[in-house]
Amino acid sequence: MIEIENLSKNYGSIQALKNLNLSIDDGDIFGFIGPNGAGKSTTFKILATLLVPSQGHAIIDGYSVASQAGEVRKRIGYMPDVFGAYEDMTVNEYLSFFAALYDVPASQRKATLDGVLDLTDLQSKKSADCQSLSRGMQQRLGLARVLLHDPKVLLLDEPASGLDPRARIEIRELLKELKLMGKTILISSHILSELAEISTKIGVIERGQLLFSGTMPELLSKVQHKRVLHVKVKEKAPEALALLRGLDYIENVDMTGTDLELTFKSQRKDSSDVIQCLTDKKFRLLEVREPELNLESCFMLLTKGQVG
Ligand SMILES: Nc1ncnc2c1ncn2[C@@H]1O[C@H](COP(=O)(O)OP(=O)(O)O)[C@@H](O)[C@H]1O
Ligand SMILES: [Mg+2]
Repeated sequence: MIEIENLSKNYGSIQALKNLNLSIDDGDIFGFIGPNGAGKSTTFKILATLLVPSQGHAIIDGYSVASQAGEVRKRIGYMPDVFGAYEDMTVNEYLSFFAALYDVPASQRKATLDGVLDLTDLQSKKSADCQSLSRGMQQRLGLARVLLHDPKVLLLDEPASGLDPRARIEIRELLKELKLMGKTILISSHILSELAEISTKIGVIERGQLLFSGTMPELLSKVQHKRVLHVKVKEKAPEALALLRGLDYIENVDMTGTDLELTFKSQRKDSSDVIQCLTDKKFRLLEVREPELNLESCFMLLTKGQVG
């Protein structure tokens, strides 16, 4: 649905994007993650046909953002990272104004507005002044606006930034609904954990370069060299230790009381193999768990170039 090839962008002597290559499939929620200044907004503006790349090109739904901007614009809903002023408008007036701009036929405007107001849960606010809305509601209004012409592709540049936790969750739920509607979504954030759960794929960008692109499990396996498992046995911990140490797919086992911490040698083995082995030998298990992975530390490792 979105193909980015060798995309570069210079602002004078600043190279904001360096040879970016990305491919986003139909129906993907692609989480675009990178620290401030990484080049996320520059990528969005190029895809939204608002900025001309210095080199390379991008295709959306088969149309070139450079030479077929009109066709691209019909297919995308772009929500920029900074929001314009609303003047003195109610929610309804604001959306009616944009519906007219997006060429939604007058006869369909009311139904279209109702649809996006329902989806973004702003029906009760339609007569409210835009400026009186909370920031979370304003972000939802921004989303309502880019949905008016029912675009296939949504380009959402940091839609959750500056929101409180509740408003973030509301945006996340809304994104899940949009995914179910079949939209392809490119969404950015400087926080990995914010997008980890909802994204089907993740792209990590820093200093204009893509450091990683793939699924969340792929990202984790790239960053996490050794998979760890915690096992707590009810009794006979030393015997369990000896058994586990003898397995060819286990690299190392440490014991503290009845707690065992082991690392895997083989990528093909997991907790189910360990459980099977211990229960076969009649060990009674109180707990088996993989320690929670700290996503922010993964992100730090990746952006510091400390992974292979
Ligand atoms: N209009 C501009 N003029 C000059 N430099 C810019 C402009 N816009 C962005 N930059 C620079 O380009 C780099 C990438 O910025 P941006 O795409 O906004 O990153 P992000 O959205 O990831 O924070 C930064 O170094 C930024 O300072
Ligand atoms: Mg930005």
